[in-house]
Amino acid sequence: VLAILALVALAYVLGSIPFAVVVSRIMGLSDPRSYGSKNPGATNVLRTGNRTAAALTLLGDAAKGWAAVWLASLAVRHWGLPGYAVGLAGVAVFLGHVYPLFLKFKGGKGVATALGVLLGFQPWLAAATVATWLIVAFATRYSSLAAIVAAIFAPLYYLFGGNIAWRFEGAICLAVVVISVLLCYRHQANIARLLAGKEDRIGKNKGSAE
Ligand code: G3P
Repeated sequence: VLAILALVALAYVLGSIPFAVVVSRIMGLSDPRSYGSKNPGATNVLRTGNRTAAALTLLGDAAKGWAAVWLASLAVRHWGLPGYAVGLAGVAVFLGHVYPLFLKFKGGKGVATALGVLLGFQPWLAAATVATWLIVAFATRYSSLAAIVAAIFAPLYYLFGGNIAWRFEGAICLAVVVISVLLCYRHQANIARLLAGKEDRIGKNKGSAE
């Protein structure tokens, strides 16, 4: 039990590293919590027009999600932790990003981190979910809508891909559902803006699409 708690705590702390804020500070950009949607995430960092900073944010936030799940898998394989520790670590790192220790519990919406977690769970699940995100993002140019639709599809992919592309595991399925629900819940403001037709489209600030 102690080992599981330690793993969950580690995953949570890892998730708490806000790459949007860290990358912005290193690259001399303003704090993402001060402009645009005020969200510390890759989409909002992109609103500065700095694609490199946005890409690094996406990469960092996804990498920490993946790393937590990878670490948990190692612990299950080599140190005898129960299999469900992998699902727990995935939820813990996601919670760390959304409610981070280092930002007074005011974090991001978890899209990039969820992607990293899915990649750690099942690469094909991540691929299908990313494909969904890309299709909606290209079709509508709404990052938030793409994330919401992808989050709705991810648990379905896991459910129906089980026993075909991977072995179905209840704990992983539950983790995907929990992350999906929380991710949608964190997009409340975006949903309101989408319904009001006031949501920003990707590329708006660069003057390309809009
Ligand atoms: O990555 C989060 C995205 O889905 C929405 O971000 O900044 O438009 O609220 P934002």
